[in-house]
Amino acid sequence: MTEETILEKFYSHFVGTPTVFAAPGRVNLIGEHTDYNDGYVFPMAINFYTYLAVAPRHDRNLQIWSENMQETILFSLDSNRSRRNHWSDYVAGVADELEKQGVILPGADLYIDSQVPVGAGLSSSAAIEMATALALAHSANASLEKKEFALLGQRAENRFVGMNCGIMDQFISMHAEDGHALMLDCRSLEFSQVPLKSDAVCIVVCNTMVKHELASSEYNKRRAECEEGVRLLRAQLPGITHLRDVSLSQFNQLQFGLPAIVAKRCRHVISENQRVLHSQACLAAHDLAGFARLMNESHNSLRDDYEVSCGELDLLVDLARSHAACLGSRMTGGGFGGCTVNLVRLDQADSFVEQIQSAYSFRTGLHPQVYIFTPSRGAHRVTAAQ
Ligand code: GLA
Repeated sequence: MTEETILEKFYSHFVGTPTVFAAPGRVNLIGEHTDYNDGYVFPMAINFYTYLAVAPRHDRNLQIWSENMQETILFSLDSNRSRRNHWSDYVAGVADELEKQGVILPGADLYIDSQVPVGAGLSSSAAIEMATALALAHSANASLEKKEFALLGQRAENRFVGMNCGIMDQFISMHAEDGHALMLDCRSLEFSQVPLKSDAVCIVVCNTMVKHELASSEYNKRRAECEEGVRLLRAQLPGITHLRDVSLSQFNQLQFGLPAIVAKRCRHVISENQRVLHSQACLAAHDLAGFARLMNESHNSLRDDYEVSCGELDLLVDLARSHAACLGSRMTGGGFGGCTVNLVRLDQADSFVEQIQSAYSFRTGLHPQVYIFTPSRGAHRVTAAQ
């Protein structure tokens, strides 16, 4: 999408002089359901963005046009707002958090157009949150650090939207660099940019085209089960605050004292953290096959121990693994639908895509969207500064 197109579309709804911002969705390569356990994640931003054009108003209203929903909404920043289970919750939640942080927002007209598919597990919500945060902070002349933007987006989602997510999605949408994935320690928020250039393989993402209703309630339930695990393990390991603090060998010794479900959840998180660390060693040694094996193990653990996969995701993973070009395949994101991420040999990527699409359609009657993503730049201002 070009700057001109966005501006043109803005002018078909609003007047004024807009500034345009963009924030990407993400795909997580490995490290699933570890972020809220203070663990490690390894996502990359995708080349699908949410674009947002913002122009100031003279009152304290936010008027928002969503191109995707073909709908406009207007509310006053002075009204008492609460969740409406509506797309505008992400904007309202971010506005709320900015004001709680002491930023006094002027009214604004916002035009939003997103390329990130909704409900696909590619963080369309983090993309809209981060684009909104940059746009509203700009309209208030406030400058915040990238980390502050990410944290306030997470708070908006936790408090306003009611989804107890971790920090991964907002953090990668804000911090991503072109050509890199990001290795993030979700405890310290220290990170490193890991170059992901390869002439041999590419990242293929396959969309199941389903999102099961229970996704967010089960997500919050998993998080509570992890907290229960920490509470119980603390009897033997008094120093721990999160599953991040428990080693695999400690867990192996103590698991029999835990309720079976809690033990499975803990095993996934603790082993997944190990896999993320191990995956970095594989990349450093240019061992793509080793990296891909860890992706496969990650999926099996999410399916069997964490139980956040579903029939459609397992089918896509099985179909992918049966193709010779696929090195590794796993579900990505929260689960219960959404996408798989696959490491695929570049020279056979077309045949991989064709086979997956026809076999998945044949088995389910659904036509899966398939994307070949390149690691992309994080949230940024699109229009040049005046
Ligand atoms: C969702 C959440 C993230 C993370 C993933 C699972 O995308 O928003 O914080 O927990 O699920 O890894």
